[in-house]
Amino acid sequence: MAKIIMQPSGKSVDCAYGDTVLMALEKSGYALPNNCRAGACGECKVKVTSGQFDQGIVLDMALSQDERRQGYGLMCMAKPISDEIVIEWGTEDARPKLFPPRENALFVVVDKRQIAARVVELRLRPVGQAIRYWPGQYVTIGDPRANIPARAYSISNAPRPDGELVLQVARADSGVTSNWVHEQLQIGDNIKVSGAYGTFIGDPAVDTPVLCLAAGTGLAPILALGEAALRRGFKKPVTMIFSARSREDIYAQGMMAWWRTKHRNFDYKITLTREQAEGYLAGRIDVVLPKLFPDLSKHTVFIAGSPEFVDTCVAAVKAQGARPETIYTEGFFAQQQPVVADAEHLLPA
Ligand SMILES: Cc1cc2nc3c(=O)[nH]c(=O)nc-3n(C[C@H](O)[C@H](O)[C@H](O)COP(=O)(O)OP(=O)(O)OC[C@H]3O[C@@H](n4cnc5c(N)ncnc54)[C@H](O)[C@@H]3O)c2cc1C
Ligand code: FES
Repeated sequence: MAKIIMQPSGKSVDCAYGDTVLMALEKSGYALPNNCRAGACGECKVKVTSGQFDQGIVLDMALSQDERRQGYGLMCMAKPISDEIVIEWGTEDARPKLFPPRENALFVVVDKRQIAARVVELRLRPVGQAIRYWPGQYVTIGDPRANIPARAYSISNAPRPDGELVLQVARADSGVTSNWVHEQLQIGDNIKVSGAYGTFIGDPAVDTPVLCLAAGTGLAPILALGEAALRRGFKKPVTMIFSARSREDIYAQGMMAWWRTKHRNFDYKITLTREQAEGYLAGRIDVVLPKLFPDLSKHTVFIAGSPEFVDTCVAAVKAQGARPETIYTEGFFAQQQPVVADAEHLLPA
C-alpha cells in the first residue's frame, strides 16, 4: 500500500498494490480528469513533485520526453513504487467530488434495441447495489475472459431510483467490443459493469446559457446532462446541436422533441453532414455555428464525440467568443490495452 499526497491541500489517499494513481484517487472520491485510461490522451497529466512511480507504456504525444523530465506523469497508467508520492492536484481544500467507482458490478441486459443505423441502445439493470454516478460520466463493459476488452460507454440517462443504466453503442468497423455488443450480447445476459468514471459533469451551480454539441454517440452523455438539468428545473436557455451524417444516423429525436415541448428554455437542432433534407441544418457544426451563435462569451459549452469532432468544435466555439474555462469536453478516444512497463519507463524521483 502506498500513500498519495495531494498538494496544496496536503490530503492523502491510500493506493492499493496494483492500482494506478487515478484508480486510487477515484476510489476515494477525487475527480481527476481522464478520457482514455490508457496513456493515449494526456487528460490525466499531473506533476509529481516527489516519490517514484512506474509510468507504464504511454504514447509520446500524450506525455512528451520534456514533460517527463519536468516530472509530469499520466496518472491513468502510473503506479507508485515508493511508499509515498506527492502530486500537484486540486485546490487548497481538495473537496471530494465523485462517487467512488465500483468494479465488475453485476447487471442484466433488460433491453437491447437498434436506435439508428449503427447504434444499439442497451438497458442494464443492477442485480445488487446501483452504480452511483454524475450525469455525463461513463462506465466500462466487456468480457475479458472471452477476450472482449472493457471499453468506455457514456451513460445516457440521468440517475434513476432502480439504478438502470442506458448505453448507446455505435458499431466501429472491426471494433472488438462494439461488435460484441451488437452481435453477441443478448437481452437477458449477465454483464459486469465498472464505473462510474470521468469528469464530464455539469456544474450544478452554473448560471449561464448552455450550448451542447454532439456527434454520433457523443449524444449519450449530453442527453444525461440535459435530462438532469431540466429535471432539476434549470431555467437558463439550453440548446443541443446534434451532428449526424444522414437521417439514418439520427436518434433520440423523440426525447429532444418532448423536452422542447415541455421546457420553454430547451431547444435542439440537428445538422446533417452528408445529406440535405428539409427540416435539418446542413453542414458540420463549425460551419453552421457562427450564424446560430455569433456570441458565445456568456455560454457554458459541453462538447462530446470523436476527438477530432471535439477539437473542431472547441476551435469553433472559441472563435465565437466562448471562454476556455467554460468549455467542457469528452473525446471518445479509441482505447489501447495497457502494456507492462520496463525500467526505461520509470521516472526518477
Ligand atoms: C470517455 C469515453 C466515452 C465513450 N462513450 C462512448 C459511447 O457512449 N458510445 C460509443 O459508441 N462509444 C463510446 N466510446 C468509444 C468506445 O469506448 C470504444 O472506443 C469504441 O466502442 C470502439 O471500441 P471497439 O472495441 O469496438 O473497437 P477497437 O477494437 O478498440 O477498435 C477501435 C478502432 O480501431 C480500429 N482498429 C482496431 N484494430 C486495428 C488495427 N490492428 N489496425 C488498424 N485499426 C484497427 C477499428 O477498426 C476501430 O475502428 C467512448 C470512449 C471514451 C474514451
Ligand atoms: S492519458 Fe490518462 S486518461 Fe488518457
